[in-house]
Amino acid sequence: MNGLPSKVRIVEVGARDGLQNEKTIIPAQTKIELINRLSRTGLRTIEATSFVSSKWVPQLADAAEVFAAIDKRAGVRYPVLVPNEQGYDRARAVGADEVAVFSAASEAFNRKNINASIDESIERFAPILDKARADGVRVRGYVSTVLGCPYQGEVPLRDVVHVASRLYTMGCYEISLGDTIGIGTPRKARDMLRAVAAEVPIEALAVHFHDTRGQALANVLACLEEGVAIVDSSVSGTGGCPYAKGATGNVASEDVVYMLEGMGIDTGIDLAALIQTGLWLSAQLGHETSSKVARASAG
Ligand code: HMG
Ligand code: MG
Repeated sequence: MNGLPSKVRIVEVGARDGLQNEKTIIPAQTKIELINRLSRTGLRTIEATSFVSSKWVPQLADAAEVFAAIDKRAGVRYPVLVPNEQGYDRARAVGADEVAVFSAASEAFNRKNINASIDESIERFAPILDKARADGVRVRGYVSTVLGCPYQGEVPLRDVVHVASRLYTMGCYEISLGDTIGIGTPRKARDMLRAVAAEVPIEALAVHFHDTRGQALANVLACLEEGVAIVDSSVSGTGGCPYAKGATGNVASEDVVYMLEGMGIDTGIDLAALIQTGLWLSAQLGHETSSKVARASAG
């Protein structure tokens, strides 16, 4: 155990991971307003959208329109998801200067999600990383299904370590480890993190928990105790992957910030403003927030 960090950087993924999984298509204007509101909460990293195929994820077909229109606040980074070179070029055309590539530790999931094997998906990233290096663009790497897969079940730890270290070696500056279907428990999360941290520096690791089984905050804490200081979360607890059956929302940003600040760990985020943003979003989406902290504050 390395002890708890004194500061944590939250990577807000609600506008991407959250909205990609909504049943109805959200108007671009609502997405833009969401990101602008989030930009005023003290968040420093806001994943804005995803330049994937609109046939696969119609919810984010307006990526270019949204990215071009958001107010880019100084000191805030707005990474976007890209699955291939076409996505990278589309993102660059509207001025994105940070992108995220994604693969999974499970072959079966990769096939469903991006129609490619793990090796093929990583090969697709090579030209993205080459271009990004030349363009001065930062690239984040996601590894999904790190604690289990909806299609193949168990995911061997060595596969998680393999994908994470390949993405890191290729040039991703940060690797986010995703429990896509929210199946893990704290001891498993810690063991997984330790195995990856033996190959990738802990400072370059982020954790990304979905709260499908109510384990996300406990898993976050277990990983913080191992020295992780970057946590992905989603305002109002929205989220899920359309290609991960049964996966529900990410851990709610409000709940993570409440826990961290309550433990004396600095996030730089104005919790009240974040709660208001989450309540505003849930009103737009027409379903109740899954943040317990937001619900308690609303009375
Ligand atoms: P494919 O069908 O195998 O590829 O999809 P393709 O190259 O044959 O392309 C099919 C069509 O899509 C073509 O159009 C392409 O031009 C177009 P057509 O010729 O038929 O008119 N196309 C694109 N259009 C716009 N932007 C692009 C793009 N690429 C191709 N970038 C592909 C392969 C990877 C494109 C597809 O499978 C895809 O887009 N998948 C995305 C799935 C996705 O977004 N999943 C959710 C994100 S991952 C996640 O949520 C997990 C995470 O949160 C972490 C965690 O929780 O663990 C990150
Ligand atoms: Mg996710």
